[in-house]
Amino acid sequence: MQKVAIKLTKEAQDVAISLQGLTRNFGNFTAVSDLSLNLPHGEIIGFLGPNGAGKSTTMKMIAGLISPSEGEIFFCKDEELVKLDRGNRDVILKDIGFLIENPTFYDHMTPRQILTYFAELKGYPRKEIKNRIEEVLELVGMKEWIDKKIKTFSKGMRQKIGLVSAFVHDPSVLVLDEPQTGLDPKARKEVREILMKLKAQGKTIFLSSHLLYEVSEISDKIAIINNGKIIAFDTVEKLEAKVKKSMLQIELQEQPENIDEMVEKLTKIIIDIVGDLNGEDIVQYNSNLKVFEVQFDGSAENKNKILEALIENKVKIAEFSVPRTNLLESLYIGFLENGS
Ligand SMILES: Nc1ncnc2c1ncn2[C@@H]1O[C@H](COP(=O)(O)OP(=O)(O)O)[C@@H](O)[C@H]1O
Ligand SMILES: [Mg+2]
Repeated sequence: MQKVAIKLTKEAQDVAISLQGLTRNFGNFTAVSDLSLNLPHGEIIGFLGPNGAGKSTTMKMIAGLISPSEGEIFFCKDEELVKLDRGNRDVILKDIGFLIENPTFYDHMTPRQILTYFAELKGYPRKEIKNRIEEVLELVGMKEWIDKKIKTFSKGMRQKIGLVSAFVHDPSVLVLDEPQTGLDPKARKEVREILMKLKAQGKTIFLSSHLLYEVSEISDKIAIINNGKIIAFDTVEKLEAKVKKSMLQIELQEQPENIDEMVEKLTKIIIDIVGDLNGEDIVQYNSNLKVFEVQFDGSAENKNKILEALIENKVKIAEFSVPRTNLLESLYIGFLENGS
């Protein structure tokens, strides 16, 4: 297998799948744009975005069903990141479970027959297939249905069999495209519980949904995609904290020599306007972006006051803006307004 030498940072050593600059065009339309994301081992990563955001396109690229226009996909294999290509695709993807589109099953078949087919297809040891199928049907609470024909199944039961067909071969990573869509609340909850059980077995799960609740309930981290671009990627707690308050970014004309001193100076100027935020840091320095970040209530009035106070105190500002956290906020609000 071709190995691509990648220098792993400490963080990257924990990565199960790494998406790097993934772009997919359909004609002139860009469905996925320069998308980079590291999926850590053993976590559930929610992939959240409205319909048409680019979730399925991304997952199809991971599954090797369509190829990226640009960018690369790496999978962790024997503790190395290996770049997905035509040559190694079949070997690498065997250790991944995919639910990309809801499979349609033949009504006259039984779960035992269907799951045997998928387990064999993915090269699961033949002698162990029988036991494995009983085990996974037990896990989803459908063991007594093992020899019943699919035509007698409810939609939720069919979808559960679809989900099981994605992990019957015991892959370490699961990529699931909207496994809960179209299900009633009870069946959705059951799916969430199944995913938590799989996580407890140490599996990495990349789970898409257009419903905030479906992923926020169970995900360790959430990547929010909109118009083909990742607009946020963080733990649920941190995303929630960001939504609760607004942020201003201030870039200075010259980097101050002493960052801490500048943070203190800015805090003194701004604290009178925003008040002390229950002891939280009002001004922080973001060393990646080289900007000072100010927490405030998001009101236009205070934004204006802050700007005036900075000018009065002769702070030399290059850039003064409300960054993408507000995009995140409006996206969240958009979700809420849509009743999801
Ligand atoms: N095969 C295709 N040809 C043209 N446009 C496509 C194709 N597949 C997806 N798209 C477009 O790409 C965008 C993203 O689609 P998709 O990845 O399915 O979004 P999501 O799964 O987030 O709902 C949509 O605007 C969709 O219409
Ligand atoms: Mg989709």
